Amino acid sequence: MKKRIILITGANRGLGAATGIKLSEQGHHVIFTARNNHKLSILKKQLSHQHSSVDFIPLDVTRPDSIIEAHHTIANHYPQIDTLINNAGIYTSGTVDISTINDQAILEAFTTNTLGPLKITQQFLPLIKQSPEGIIVNVSSGMGAIVEMDSGSPAYRISKTALNVTTKLLHHELYEQGIKVNSVCPGWVRTEMGGPSATLSIDEGIRGIIWAATLKKKGPSGGFFRHGKPLQW
Ligand SMILES: NC(=O)c1ccc[n+]([C@@H]2O[C@H](COP(=O)([O-])OP(=O)(O)OC[C@H]3O[C@@H](n4cnc5c(N)ncnc54)[C@H](OP(=O)(O)O)[C@@H]3O)[C@@H](O)[C@H]2O)c1
Repeated sequence: MKKRIILITGANRGLGAATGIKLSEQGHHVIFTARNNHKLSILKKQLSHQHSSVDFIPLDVTRPDSIIEAHHTIANHYPQIDTLINNAGIYTSGTVDISTINDQAILEAFTTNTLGPLKITQQFLPLIKQSPEGIIVNVSSGMGAIVEMDSGSPAYRISKTALNVTTKLLHHELYEQGIKVNSVCPGWVRTEMGGPSATLSIDEGIRGIIWAATLKKKGPSGGFFRHGKPLQW
C-alpha cells in the first residue's frame, strides 16, 4: 500500500473523525482539520497516543482567512497532498419548503457545502498537483441526486446538487493532470447530522469514503458513488 498524505475537513466528529482515524490506522498520514480549536485539541489528546502519523490544524471552510492560514501552515510542512477529503458539511432547514425558504438559509448551506469544498480545492490544488496520484473526494449526499430528488430540506439538497456539479467540472479540468475527483454519498449514517434513527453505523458510512480516498491509479473519476457503487446524478 502506498502511504498517502490525506487532508480532511470537518474532522473533529462524525464521519470526518472516523474516516481520519481509520485511514491513519491503515498507515496513511492524516491531517485532521476542524473549525473549532477546542474540539480539535480534544481529538488531538485522544489520538496522539495511539496514532503517530497524524496532524491537527484549524480550518473553517467558510472563512477565507482561515483557509489561507491553514494552507500556509500545511504548505510549510508538507511537499504534497495526495488526497483531499471535503467532508465538512451542515444540514439546515429540514422542515422548510422550497416555496417559502428564505435566501439566508440557502446561502448558509451553499457557503459551507458547496463553496467551502470549492475554495478548499482551489487553495490546495497546487499541493495536490505535486502528488503523482492526486485524489479529491467531495462528501455529498443522495439528497443532492436529481434522480432521487424528493421534497424537504431544500437548502441542503440544492447545496449538494451544486457540489455534484462542482465534482464534474473539476473532473473535466483535472483528470488530464492525473487528479481524480469524485462525489461520495455515505448513506444515512448515525452521526449528529444523521440522527439516531439512521440505518448505518459510522463504520459502515465511512467505507465508501475510504474507498474513494485511496483509489488505485486506474480508479474512476468524475463519478458519484455510495459504498463504492456508482450512483446516478
Ligand atoms: N450522516 C449522514 O447521514 C449523511 C448522509 C449523507 C451525507 N452526509 C455528509 O457527510 C458529511 C459529514 O457529515 P456527518 O454526518 O459526519 O455530520 P456531523 O456529525 O454533523 O459533522 C459535520 C462536521 O462538519 C464540520 N463543519 C461544519 N461546518 C464547518 C465549517 N464551516 N468548517 C469546518 N468544519 C465544519 C463540523 O464541525 P463542528 O463540530 O465545528 O460543527 C463537523 O465536524 C457532510 O458533508 C454531510 O453532508 C452525511
